[in-house]
Amino acid sequence: MTALHIAVLMGGWSAEREVSLSSGNGVADALESLGHRVTRIDMGPDVAAKLAAAAPDLVFNALHGTPGEDGSVQGLMDLMGLRYTHSGLATSVIAIDKVLTKQVLVPAGVPMPGGRIVKSADVHGADPLPRPYVLKPVNEGSSVGVAIVTDAGNYGNPIARDATGPWQEFDELLAEPYVRGRELTTAVLGDRALGVTELRPKSGWYDYDAKYTDGMTEHIFPAEVPDEITQACMALALQAHRVLGCRGTSRSDFRWDDERGVDGLFLLEVNTQPGMTPLSLVPEQARHIGLSYPELVQAIVDEALRS
Ligand SMILES: Nc1ncnc2c1ncn2[C@@H]1O[C@H](COP(=O)(O)OP(=O)(O)O)[C@@H](O)[C@H]1O
Ligand SMILES: [Mg+2]
Repeated sequence: MTALHIAVLMGGWSAEREVSLSSGNGVADALESLGHRVTRIDMGPDVAAKLAAAAPDLVFNALHGTPGEDGSVQGLMDLMGLRYTHSGLATSVIAIDKVLTKQVLVPAGVPMPGGRIVKSADVHGADPLPRPYVLKPVNEGSSVGVAIVTDAGNYGNPIARDATGPWQEFDELLAEPYVRGRELTTAVLGDRALGVTELRPKSGWYDYDAKYTDGMTEHIFPAEVPDEITQACMALALQAHRVLGCRGTSRSDFRWDDERGVDGLFLLEVNTQPGMTPLSLVPEQARHIGLSYPELVQAIVDEALRS
């Protein structure tokens, strides 16, 4: 292995800033343990100047959310002639947007929930879809801003004006039919799907706290699901990775309605900058197939250098 000078981009100002700092520092420690020289960059508006000053051999992108996952930072690095890990500009623009992702993947045969864009001001008038349904921002992550509107009328029926939810912060929302059942996820590294993890929140649903508080969600690997579901998740995650043109690693999130067999499996989204924190799912799946955290980080570096 050649020792490189690698800049690790982390932090930023998205809702996932803290997660990204944890991902970035984990990655930076691993790179140092592998013998690379590391410059840690907490991204601010001066990111171009910092990257130019560092002049690294490679940038490890550990950002989550906008603008590190939406193509903006990728475009900047393209213009600066910097090599970087993970997906490029066009893939990032599509994958961060849950509507564009459907427009690309559904015609390619990937099952995703139907959905439509609604003006958030309109949700107080009438339900955009029959209950239960989900309202979520088009381009956030980590379950930020996701609301599950149930038959029981948890936000009021119609949604009350003083109820707290994403309609307060976002002009437009994606409304999707709620897929009952189970929460599954599959990481892809290079040309290989690593496996399927089931996420079982100990209470409630898989929201921000369930994702990032140690012990709040049980991770079951391999997921205790029929073999055809495991195979379908792995095939669909790999297909989504390829159709979108992802590079390095990605992670596909699924819901599976276990009363409907394989017809109940739906891809929710593809994460092109999946979490790399100690609790994160991609490192966990890698570990289960015998790849340590530093080995995973090195594999992502190698993928970036190959392309
Ligand atoms: N259509 C849906 N049916 C059931 N649950 C959903 C649906 N959409 C989102 N969720 C729940 O919200 C979580 C976050 O949604 P997701 O689309 O993965 O966005 P992100 O992870 O980017 O916030 C999912 O893991 C799932 O628990
Ligand atoms: Mg998700």
